[in-house]
Amino acid sequence: MIRLGTRLTVPADLARGAVEGGKVAAAATTGWVEAEGRRVPVPRPGEGEGVVANRGGRPVGISTVDGVTRAVSAVCTHLGGVLDWNDAECTWDCPLHASRFAADGTRIEGPALRDLPEVPQTSDR
Ligand code: FES
Repeated sequence: MIRLGTRLTVPADLARGAVEGGKVAAAATTGWVEAEGRRVPVPRPGEGEGVVANRGGRPVGISTVDGVTRAVSAVCTHLGGVLDWNDAECTWDCPLHASRFAADGTRIEGPALRDLPEVPQTSDR
């Protein structure tokens, strides 16, 4: 006898979960690899721009907003995703679970509960 109910959807849900988990893992790996390829110092970002670079094996986010250049850890305080700069919002966004941080590292939203630590600037121009 075949029973129709929520139990029959479990394998499909598990498959969807595995696919989504794979996408998150790929995004996590890509962020770390890309950060590794650009070492500080980097040129000072233009107004409203941000860049992720590698300082001693750790991703650092350097941005310029309202004429102020800042450097923060580019590692999400949730589960360690490497952040991307969002030009439209001037925020650091996590590709893994969508936490967002202001240019100064202040947490805006998402599952991350802590701000990004500021780090000494190493940009030059
Ligand atoms: S790792 Fe960044 S929101 Fe989860």
